[in-house]
Amino acid sequence: MCGIIGYIGNKEAFPILINGLKRLEYRGYDSSGVALLQNNESIIYKKKGKVSDLENFIADSDVSGNIGIGHTRWATHGEPNDVNAHPHTSLNGHFTLIHNGIIENYGRLKDVLVSVGYTFKGETDTEVLVNLIEYIYMRGNVNAELAVHYALAKVIGAYGLVVLCKNEPDQLIAARKGSPLVIGIGEGEHFIASDATPIVEHTNSVIYLNNDNVAIIKKNELTLKTTDNDELTPNIQKLNLGIGEIEKNGYAHFMLKEIFEQPRSIKDTCRGRISLEEKSIRLGGLHAVMPKLIDAKRIIIVGCGTSWHAGLVGEYLIEDFARIPVEVEYSSEFRYRKPVLNDTDVVIAISQSGETADTLAAIELARSAGATVIGISNVVGSSIPRETNAGVYTHAGPEIGVASTKAFTTQITVLSMIAIELGMKRGTLTPKESNGLMEELILIPEKLERIIKMNDSFEKIAALYKNANNFLYLGRGYFFPVALEGALKLKEISYIHAEGYPAAEMKHGPIALIDENMPVVVIAAKDNSYEKIVSNIQEIKARKGIVIAIVTEGDTVIREMADHVLEIPKADFALAPILAVVPLQLLSYHIAVMRGCNIDQPRNLAKSVTVE
Ligand code: M6R
Repeated sequence: MCGIIGYIGNKEAFPILINGLKRLEYRGYDSSGVALLQNNESIIYKKKGKVSDLENFIADSDVSGNIGIGHTRWATHGEPNDVNAHPHTSLNGHFTLIHNGIIENYGRLKDVLVSVGYTFKGETDTEVLVNLIEYIYMRGNVNAELAVHYALAKVIGAYGLVVLCKNEPDQLIAARKGSPLVIGIGEGEHFIASDATPIVEHTNSVIYLNNDNVAIIKKNELTLKTTDNDELTPNIQKLNLGIGEIEKNGYAHFMLKEIFEQPRSIKDTCRGRISLEEKSIRLGGLHAVMPKLIDAKRIIIVGCGTSWHAGLVGEYLIEDFARIPVEVEYSSEFRYRKPVLNDTDVVIAISQSGETADTLAAIELARSAGATVIGISNVVGSSIPRETNAGVYTHAGPEIGVASTKAFTTQITVLSMIAIELGMKRGTLTPKESNGLMEELILIPEKLERIIKMNDSFEKIAALYKNANNFLYLGRGYFFPVALEGALKLKEISYIHAEGYPAAEMKHGPIALIDENMPVVVIAAKDNSYEKIVSNIQEIKARKGIVIAIVTEGDTVIREMADHVLEIPKADFALAPILAVVPLQLLSYHIAVMRGCNIDQPRNLAKSVTVE
């Protein structure tokens, strides 16, 4: 999704902006641009394509100036082209604007502006907003700050925006409603960005804007207000993020780095939360809502994409260990139907980014119906943790690759801890069972290390099937969501069509697809339906399908039948999804590399989907 960076201070703004835009590339975008204030004029450069295209385009231009803003755009209104790229400037050149989000009533606002003589170069809602600000500024004879306040009062929609006014060149004006913004505080300088990644190399003192906040940002001064113009006291926080965490550190791609980081990220997720001595799990962020969780009549898990898949694993875990009925819903479906909710329901919203628009809307709906809402998120300070009654951070560290990997396994880790804690507190797990599960969870990182060491074997299989047009992924029980996740990983980064199915459903349709050209990845680690999946493998082989089986180490039965076997260490099968998904992540990764795909920024995808 779109990205924002802004700078005001004594340094040259351009290198900070362009570097910031590169840091924001991971969010997904189709064009980029910068605006610099030079001699009280706003100079804009923007270009369709990559930030490197923008850099080449500007190569011989004057990019001096100490104030500037930059943007990466992911098209919503109007095609990706140079004109629709941000920044946008107003008709008379007084204002320049970058904006994340959507102005829903832009059509009506545009009609008003057209009726008073405004003309438009492109099709974006942002161009409407910048002209609205200018119109109010000129017509109302007010200063830039008031013009922004008055314009925002007329806007319906979501925004994170930064405004430059050429007549008031000592400030940037930023505002947030729905779309995150964070201000970095330096020595005689300020930064503003849509997330902390472009700021962390400059400062670790930050202020996260809340909804309906407006910030007037000067070199040495910062004023925070509500959209109603009431002054607020800024809450300065320390960024808990190192520069190394947002760099590739020698890996070819962020995705590979993040797959390899999983042993560490799971350790971090469990750290301080599982005590084998005290035989307890302590999730501090859930303390206040634990009585509600223990007595919940029903738990509903909402999420999108990979987070929804983690939710499915959560359903199995919570029903298994805590015996509470669980439903899992796509946030986008949940928000638009009329779900029956009441105050004995607990809704768990899962989101890596903490910014997914559909999940935020699902939370809003659940809260307004009186349900207790819990967030599971990876990004400290993001919207979902702010909007929920309680929650748990996954501590996976920044996930930059668009394809989610370590977020998935840490989400399952958190869900496992919730399920075990609930099982203990509700008495649905015996002490022996809960202790055994905690011990197993602690051992997962070491088992993941062993899987990652087998990377070469995943690469060899990838080489054999890199030209396949279709893949089928099958699993049963806990491994069904893993099959879905494996298929999603393959399609999003390699663009190969892939479907995930519960293995038993195969004979109700997908079996018609199986022939000697169809690779079928079967997650067949030992569990309570092992014999059944062995039969499914036989059914595939009888139709000459190619079987790539993920099995528990030492399995000799499937080795005899399958074309390829990839072993994972023995583990309790309720926790084995964390292990079984890793070979699938690596298989997808290698296939995509061999097909020459853009691994970290696959086409059309964005890292956090902040629009519907
Ligand atoms: O940030 P979120 O977890 O809310 O994102 C949800 C999905 O957009 C995300 O998981 C998406 O499906 C990934 N590209 C999957 O790899």
